[in-house]
Amino acid sequence: MQDFLNALVAELKLITQRGKVADYIPQLASVDPAQFGIAVCTPSGDSFTAGDATTLFSIQSISKVFTLTMALGKIGDGLWQHVGREPSGNPFNSIVQLEHEMGKPRNPFINAGAIAVVDAIMMGHEPKECLGEILSFVRYLAKDDSICFDRVVAASEMQHRDRNASLAHFMKAFGRLRHDVDKVLGTYFHQCAIAMNCLQLAQSGLFLASDGIDKTMGQRIVSAQRARRINSLMMMCGHYDGSGEFAFRVGLPGKSGVGGGILAIAPGKASIAVWSPGLDQQGNSLIGTLALERLAQFTGWSVF
Ligand code: DON
Repeated sequence: MQDFLNALVAELKLITQRGKVADYIPQLASVDPAQFGIAVCTPSGDSFTAGDATTLFSIQSISKVFTLTMALGKIGDGLWQHVGREPSGNPFNSIVQLEHEMGKPRNPFINAGAIAVVDAIMMGHEPKECLGEILSFVRYLAKDDSICFDRVVAASEMQHRDRNASLAHFMKAFGRLRHDVDKVLGTYFHQCAIAMNCLQLAQSGLFLASDGIDKTMGQRIVSAQRARRINSLMMMCGHYDGSGEFAFRVGLPGKSGVGGGILAIAPGKASIAVWSPGLDQQGNSLIGTLALERLAQFTGWSVF
């Protein structure tokens, strides 16, 4: 595996078409697109890394996997009253379906769905308390207490919040959000602004690779059924309107973020994190997807 990853990094370095970095906030627009990192962690405790695997990046929408897990832990299947389980076939920040579907977001991974999930886990608490809980959970999964929010990214997201604020207000108008819109958005933006590296991220996904148990810690995080369901949502909705293409090319449950990271799960085999900041048309990492495609071909880990 290590030799393969080293060769992959060398091969991907040569590619000049690396996509376009997110530019809706200056902090993401200034990230160097030449970077690429990969980490592969196995349930038996092995980890393999190559490239910029220990460089911190903004995990953005990958955080939605962790808040979804928390929400299911807190309110169980009641969550599905607030958010659906269908692919949207639309961009991650689209508002169009909300109007026809009574303000209920299609799934927990589009922005509207993730905002509804945050509202569900706040349960009357202040953003600070909720954020403390999110950070503790991520640190626990990653086995690394150094993980933090990037407050500059969070503040910048809040400043450029018009699009997400529209989604939130629209849902609130349908009676879908119980908390103050700015408090929900502030919490959501901090969640997106968690900074992690590939190794920490791959460690955090291990419970999804082993039927809900992180075997390296000897801890059950969720039931086997719940792990399978989270993986199914990642497969169907984790790359938005690029989810079909990702399933076709990679064949693994995956969740992307506009920071250029992707967390992919090979059930029973490994938790994998890749990062390369340049994005494709759908806002998913261009080189990251290619790396996962190559890894899936090399290992035969596709679930299909
Ligand atoms: O809310 C947003 O639009 C961003 N903070 C996160 C979106 C995102 O990562 C979509 N992923 N590809």
